[in-house]
Amino acid sequence: MYDFDTVIDRRDSCSLKWDSAERRGMPADVLPMWVADMDFAAPPVVTRALARVAQFGVFGYSEADEHFCESVHSWFLRRFSWDVSERWQVLVPGVVPALYLAVQAYTEPGDAVLIQSPVYYPFREAIHDTGRVVASNPLRGASVAGEPESEGGNPYTIDFDDFEAKAADPRVKLFILCNPHNPVGRVWTADELRRMGEICLKHKVIVVADEIHADFVFPGYQHTVFAQLSDELADNCVIATAPSKTFNLAGLQLATVFIPNEKLRRRYLRAFRASGLSQPGLMGIVACRAAYEGGEDWLEELLVYLQGNFDYLDERLRAEIPAIKLVAPEGSYLAWLDCREMSLGHRELDDFMVKEARLWLDGGTMFGPEGAGFQRMNLACPRATLSEALDRLTTATR
Ligand SMILES: Cc1ncc(COP(=O)(O)O)c(C=O)c1O
Repeated sequence: MYDFDTVIDRRDSCSLKWDSAERRGMPADVLPMWVADMDFAAPPVVTRALARVAQFGVFGYSEADEHFCESVHSWFLRRFSWDVSERWQVLVPGVVPALYLAVQAYTEPGDAVLIQSPVYYPFREAIHDTGRVVASNPLRGASVAGEPESEGGNPYTIDFDDFEAKAADPRVKLFILCNPHNPVGRVWTADELRRMGEICLKHKVIVVADEIHADFVFPGYQHTVFAQLSDELADNCVIATAPSKTFNLAGLQLATVFIPNEKLRRRYLRAFRASGLSQPGLMGIVACRAAYEGGEDWLEELLVYLQGNFDYLDERLRAEIPAIKLVAPEGSYLAWLDCREMSLGHRELDDFMVKEARLWLDGGTMFGPEGAGFQRMNLACPRATLSEALDRLTTATR
């Protein structure tokens, strides 16, 4: 029913991905497949709702009403069997701001925050920018070039002994979990989540779960909302979500934070007030409600299309560029490419992608030192764009 094949020219639309190459020192003809937004139009139900508001023409201060709250509630109940209460919700302009607020709400300058590297780079920035210290529990896996630990599956796992050692450090007050994990593509199982959650409870470490990619989970895998694991674990966590990845609404800046525990919620709200943030933007509210109420069939088709993109990428890499391997994705639309067999240093590899292949990807070390030899490629684009990227990569590699 929906068209994901048409290439939309996004140039000259104030797009961070498509309009900032030269300002960021990239060649003008580079094909951008880096920042995680999609080259697809949002579901028609969303654009219609936004057009109605634009036509109405009055753009005064806005507030989320009971219809908005019900659309959020119903989405999580339908998609994840998670029954959220309206009281738990705090609306913020994005998941990244939500993480900064959590760091400020639950830690003091000089405290440490646990993350699992390689991981979405703003996790590190939220810790450094607020004067806190990173404690890293590096993921295990993909350690030897060309020899994935689990044949065919995603090799990344958690080093639980190291996780516990880090969580037991009295300076560590907070753990920022990424599930599904950007960039390695794991969807953590309920057992893995429970084990991490129990270690955090034992050592009084609060968990912030960034679940922004939760709607992108491939067949055979299941997303577990961290707060679903048990009442005790729900009481020790903050869940950050947004419709922005799912429906391509990032420019409308709206995210939802759920905090079941009242004391943790009060501390969060104190940090929220101190930040000077106030009402959420009108277009974000309208788009989110429309998407959650009417965008589900669009999402189902999108998931099939994205799966097709991953399959297409995998087939062409195997046939044309065997030195680059796709790390088996379980969730998200971000491909984690193992380029270690190319035997390039990480700077050389980044340069090769930009200067030779004319591709703007995210270099693996942006996510932490464990990302050396990897590149992250955004597959939320028409197949024709992906095909063009692979043509460029094949030519450059040859
Ligand atoms: C794990 C993760 N969290 C948060 C974000 C960004 O969230 P927002 O745009 O709502 O700040 C991204 C975007 O790529 C992401 O991958």
